Amino acid sequence: MIDILEIKYAAEGLTKGELDDIWDIMCDCNREFVPPLSSRNSPTQSNLLTGRDDTQTDVDDKPYVYFEEIRKQHFILAEIEGKVIGFLTFKTDHMCDALQDFGVSNYITTVCIDKKYRKQGILSRLYEHMENKLPDSIHCSKVSTRTWSQNDAHAGFLLKRGYTLLKTLPDDRGPGIDTLYFGAKLK
Ligand SMILES: CC(C)(COP(=O)(O)OP(=O)(O)OC[C@H]1O[C@@H](n2cnc3c(N)ncnc32)[C@H](O)[C@@H]1OP(=O)(O)O)[C@@H](O)C(=O)NCCC(=O)NCCS
Repeated sequence: MIDILEIKYAAEGLTKGELDDIWDIMCDCNREFVPPLSSRNSPTQSNLLTGRDDTQTDVDDKPYVYFEEIRKQHFILAEIEGKVIGFLTFKTDHMCDALQDFGVSNYITTVCIDKKYRKQGILSRLYEHMENKLPDSIHCSKVSTRTWSQNDAHAGFLLKRGYTLLKTLPDDRGPGIDTLYFGAKLK
């Protein structure tokens, strides 16, 4: 499988087929995220707390708003024979309160791998591309991201890859669920 896996930066934007594949993966994995990606559908949900409020309007539990948000960002795709089986989205020249001390970086907003293809090193391949293979025009010597404290797969991966925990926002996503910011300075 790994032989026919293609990892690429979508420099020319996404095809309709790629967008459809990404949408399918997001819908399938929606509830693995904390909070679910579809919780951003609510006009009243301005932060990451998991508690659903009475005025929440998403009825069919699909991440419409989140999808529209990431469509505007940069994509690195993992494809097998033209079908997207995983993706990473990022923003360039990013700065936010939590990353003030770290400085401007390329900031990874989402990573998601089709459930059928997990634990085969695809996340590592996406990060490898992010860190070392972007076009010079958008390359940055700093890469950052955030995840939540229960996401052992992602947080464990980042620490093993040499990322530093930069900031913890306690209970940011609900009781006992912290937001963790990570960053790495590339050589
Ligand atoms: C997190 C996620 C992207 C990992 O993708 P993956 O392709 O399976 O990861 P890889 O196979 O490249 O694994 C890389 C490393 O991550 C770690 N890892 C991956 N899955 C893990 C799991 N379920 N539990 C613990 N560690 C895990 C391992 O350290 C692994 O290193 P190893 O190969 O030396 O064991 C995938 O599980 C996913 O899409 N989850 C849902 C969405 C999500 O949580 N995204 C992150 C927040 S934005």
